[in-house]
Amino acid sequence: MKPPKSKNITWQGSHVTREERELHMGQKGAVVWFTGLSGSGKSTLARRVEQILLEQEVTAYVLDGDNLRHRLNADLGFSPSDRTENIRRVGCVAQLMADAGLICLTAFISPYRTDRDAARALLDAGRFFEVFVDTPLDVCERRDPKGLYKKARAGTIPNFTGISAPYESPVNPELAINTDGRTVYDCASEVVETLRTHGLFFAAVERLAV
Ligand code: ADX
Repeated sequence: MKPPKSKNITWQGSHVTREERELHMGQKGAVVWFTGLSGSGKSTLARRVEQILLEQEVTAYVLDGDNLRHRLNADLGFSPSDRTENIRRVGCVAQLMADAGLICLTAFISPYRTDRDAARALLDAGRFFEVFVDTPLDVCERRDPKGLYKKARAGTIPNFTGISAPYESPVNPELAINTDGRTVYDCASEVVETLRTHGLFFAAVERLAV
């Protein structure tokens, strides 16, 4: 990450530690980074995970590619450098959310390995979970929920991931999920269970027993 442009800025500490915030909230802050092709099911999955966590009294929040591109990242397109900047900003926001004690669920194609690794590097070990939504291109294209693959094939959307722009699959993700033929709930439950077994929160029944 580039150093700040200004030399006249000073980092300000806090009177409250992350540990104190986490004790207060009864959960650990973390980033769950969903990556995969457009139409692979990242957003759908992240939103279901958020809902299941809420039912277990765990606070999570979804950052979604299409949504963030309406405001924070409204100045960015889909060139390689714009995508890198998109993911850099999202990585920073996600890190802040995790520091606040939230489980931040990010749903971005994030096609470049180095960009995802840079987002990972902002978090302490055990607080970044890369979830590869490994839905094959032909399935995503058949789903085509926004009609974008059709346009990309027709040549009216340039640099479309999977068609005319690259997607670099994760090498060693914490979790890989092929959503094809599975229910959203089933896939989301697998993610939630992974987070629970990594000690990010206790199931509601376990908390009652403490
Ligand atoms: S990323 O590559 O920079 O991570 P991001 O997740 O924010 O992408 O946005 C992807 C979404 O933007 C897609 O799901 C799709 O709805 C839309 N989109 C528009 N143009 C493109 C394009 N050229 N490539 C991929 N997605 C696109």
